[in-house]
Amino acid sequence: MKASIAASLLSAAAACVSAETIAQINGNQYLSPYNGKNVTDVTGLVTAISSSGFWLRSTTPDKKITTSEGLYVYGSKATSQVAVGDVVTLDGLVKEYRSSTDYLYLTELTLPINIVVKSSNVSFEPLVIGVDTPTPPGKAYSKLDGGDIFAVPNEAYRIAVENPTLQPKTYGLDFWESLVGEIVTIKDAYAVSRPNTYGDVWVRGNWKVSGLNGHGGLTMLDRDANPEAIIIGSPVDGSTNPDDSKLGDFLGDITGVVYNAFGFYRILPLTSVAVTKSSSAEYPAVSFISKGTCKGVTVADYNAENLNPASTHLPLVIDHIVNKLLTPDLIFLQEVQDNSGATNNGVVSANETLSALANGIEEASGVVYDFVDVDPVNNEDGGQPGGNIRVAYLYRPDVVKLVDVNPGNATQANEVLAGPTLKYNPGLIDPTNSCWDDSRKPLVAMWQPVKGSDTPFFTVNVHFGSKGGSSSLHGDPRPPVNKGVEKRTLQAQTAAAFIAQIIAKDRKAHVIAAGDFNEFVQVEPMQTFLDTSGLIDMDDAAKIAEVERYTYLYDMNCEALDHMFISKNLRTGVKYEHMHLNTWQNYDDQVSDHDPSVARFNLC
Ligand SMILES: *[C@@H]1O[C@H](CO)[C@@H](O)[C@H](O)[C@H]1NC(C)=O
Ligand SMILES: *[C@@H]1O[C@H](CO)[C@@H](O)[C@H](O)[C@H]1NC(C)=O
Ligand SMILES: *[C@@H]1O[C@H](CO)[C@@H](O)[C@H](O)[C@H]1NC(C)=O
Ligand SMILES: *[C@@H]1O[C@H](CO)[C@@H](O)[C@H](O)[C@H]1NC(C)=O
Repeated sequence: MKASIAASLLSAAAACVSAETIAQINGNQYLSPYNGKNVTDVTGLVTAISSSGFWLRSTTPDKKITTSEGLYVYGSKATSQVAVGDVVTLDGLVKEYRSSTDYLYLTELTLPINIVVKSSNVSFEPLVIGVDTPTPPGKAYSKLDGGDIFAVPNEAYRIAVENPTLQPKTYGLDFWESLVGEIVTIKDAYAVSRPNTYGDVWVRGNWKVSGLNGHGGLTMLDRDANPEAIIIGSPVDGSTNPDDSKLGDFLGDITGVVYNAFGFYRILPLTSVAVTKSSSAEYPAVSFISKGTCKGVTVADYNAENLNPASTHLPLVIDHIVNKLLTPDLIFLQEVQDNSGATNNGVVSANETLSALANGIEEASGVVYDFVDVDPVNNEDGGQPGGNIRVAYLYRPDVVKLVDVNPGNATQANEVLAGPTLKYNPGLIDPTNSCWDDSRKPLVAMWQPVKGSDTPFFTVNVHFGSKGGSSSLHGDPRPPVNKGVEKRTLQAQTAAAFIAQIIAKDRKAHVIAAGDFNEFVQVEPMQTFLDTSGLIDMDDAAKIAEVERYTYLYDMNCEALDHMFISKNLRTGVKYEHMHLNTWQNYDDQVSDHDPSVARFNLC
């Protein structure tokens, strides 16, 4: 009898915990020790109110940096009972909430009841990030990444399962988790992204950052994907952030509450942010031009984003090629669609797309281009359905020519023959290999300069499988899921093995491989590519500063998905530039989602 009374008292106590502090509710790990439990007499100062809830700051902080003193109270009805500056007590249910299993949880107090206002108009100061808090860690996101956020295998751990103890001075995610619910100020914020469709924009504050590039963005470096940046989400007052801000814009000081939603820690500003000083989007023309002979052949690489004859951006791509890239001798193109664009009608030829591009360039500059590609099998290469994107070469026949033209088709595998020479010129690399299913097959060609030398050179134009479907860098799986990494590794192996055959037959062969590899150079697929092919990274050959190696802007990172790799003996005297014609623009003014790059080689 006694025992059962004791047991029922115990279970009542477990279900209803009294007068916990906000720090105790948050605990020093990701998940609240009170998850799923009712708490009573929670005391806090109201720091912000939105239409769906309000934020509290503890009136009895524990002074530990691991336990947040802030708490989100979810419940739209309760918002009418409180005002900013009120000290309140309330009861509620502690809940860990997320809208997807790939996201981290937000600790919140739901079903708030018995809200009592104890005092009003109490003043408070937001925590200044980096002053009243530790400096946001600039390299590692989570202990569970094992020192490399891009390591494979992905998803070795889940934060929600391991529930690590927070180390806010060391790990970026731990830092933001240790402040969830708090009201904070970012001093001197600069945009390091464009806004998404909701107006959410990534920023850095005045704290120490790594990867800072000349335009004010944060470039992804080896094992460093910039956890020190934070996204600014929807304002709590219901106003709207601008949708036309861009990389490097100055936003000034931002005050808001730390929150987690849609896969990212975020700061919800009290009101909309505004650009107070706009960065320049004007990128100059390439600083070097072709010499017109083997002594200085210019080679460009451009993912022109679903280009077809009816594309509204076709004239803008033409303008880039003429006025910014200065009509390079050979252009590696990716995402050239068939003549009917995304209309899914069985058309696979892209001769009208490429003619429209060549004719437009000729009209604008007088420079004549030829083109070459290999039509894919209808709807077998991924991308927009019906678009049949492929890689293609645009070239100036007055400067370079194909050697013994003998094109292969969509299913014929190119071979390296004695010489070395190619069985098909141009031709695809192992196109029926399953690693290329729903993906573009690399196009290999053998060329000669028209003037000054007969020495051939080989080119490999690639567009590897996409990263679409990857989990967020702030997500639950650790290391994050880098979607398609295994397939890209196989693609890299296959393309590189072909290149290795050319070099095995002639150690001095001139080889240029370029394109949209859809991968960062420090990650396994590209390391496999370099190791197997024997090529070197053009960024290294041209000694491009590491922070200026980017062709794409995604979330908080300026990053390089597009690369050029060359045989070692081409390295002498090279020039190379990543042309930030698109990453510096706002959404409406970008022509493609990738930046082009231009190089110059001595091919004599
Ligand atoms: C929490 O309290 C609510 C009433 O406010 C009640 O309906 C619910 O069952 C309680 N939950 C737990 C886990 O005790
Ligand atoms: C709140 O406090 C400020 C000064 O701190 C004072 O000017 C203001 O009148 C007060 N408002 C109310 C409603 O008490
Ligand atoms: C495209 O190819 C088709 C079939 O070979 C040909 O009839 C047409 O004239 C070509 N169009 C252009 C613009 O070259
Ligand atoms: C490629 O050419 C070969 C030999 O003519 C032929 O058997 C094959 O069907 C062709 N493939 C395609 C996709 O046209």
